[in-house]
Amino acid sequence: MARILILYGTTDGHTAKIAGFLADRLRSLGAGVDVFDAATSNPDPDDYAGIIVAASVHAGGYQRSVLRWVRRHAQSEVMRGARTAFLSVCLGVLQQSPKVMADLIAIKSGFIAKTGWTATQFKIVAGALPYTRYGWLKRLIMRRIARKAGGATDTAHDYEYTDWHDLRAFAGRFCALCIPELEATRSCETGSACRCAPAAIPARQRHLARASVGSSR
Ligand SMILES: Cc1cc2nc3c(=O)[nH]c(=O)nc-3n(C[C@H](O)[C@H](O)[C@H](O)COP(=O)(O)O)c2cc1C
Repeated sequence: MARILILYGTTDGHTAKIAGFLADRLRSLGAGVDVFDAATSNPDPDDYAGIIVAASVHAGGYQRSVLRWVRRHAQSEVMRGARTAFLSVCLGVLQQSPKVMADLIAIKSGFIAKTGWTATQFKIVAGALPYTRYGWLKRLIMRRIARKAGGATDTAHDYEYTDWHDLRAFAGRFCALCIPELEATRSCETGSACRCAPAAIPARQRHLARASVGSSR
C-alpha cells in the first residue's frame, strides 16, 4: 500500500502541530499518511511513496533525532527519489533580512552536508513563539531576540506565525506529486474516488501542480 510519511523533530511542539496539520490535509485529499516523531520512532522510508521531513531551527541547527534518522536512511530508494520535501521551521524568516535568509540557507546546507540528503523540495515555514510554554530563562532570551527582530514581546501570550493557507497549498501540491501511488491506494483499498486522483484534476492543472512543486526546490 502506498502511503506518505511525515517525519518530524520538535523542541517546543510547534513542528508537531505542523506535521499533524499536513497529515490531516493529505488524508482529506485521499492519501494514507503516517506521522512519526524522530525522537521516538525509526520508520523505514522504503515503506512509503513520498516523504516529508520537518524540523525546527534552534540556535542555528535542527533536532539531532532528525539528523540521525535522515543520515541513517539517506541512501534509501524513496529518499533519493523525487517525492521528498524538507520543511525548515524557524522565526528568522520573519525578519525578511538578506543576512538572516543567508543564515537560514547556511543552516540548510549544513544539514545536507551532515546527512548526505537533499530533498527535492525545500520549504522555509514560519514557526511560533509559545512564551507561556517556555521556562523563565528561555522566555527572557526569546523576548530579547523577538524585540531585536521586531517580533511580539508580550510574554503573557503565545504567537503563531505559520501561514496555514500556504501549508494547505503545499499539501495539495505534494499530494498531486504522489498521484500515481495514491491512485494505487485508491483502487486497491477504498474503491472510492480520491479527490486528488487524476480523474478529479484536469491534465493542465496536474501539469502546473507538478511544475510548481519542482520549481520550489
Ligand atoms: C532557544 C531557541 C532558539 C531558537 N533559535 C532559532 C534560530 O537560530 N533561528 C531561527 O530562525 N529560529 C530560532 N528559534 C525559533 C524556533 O525555530 C521557532 O520557535 C519554532 O516554531 C520552534 O519549533 P518547535 O516548537 O517545533 O521546536 C529558536 C527558538 C528557541 C526557543
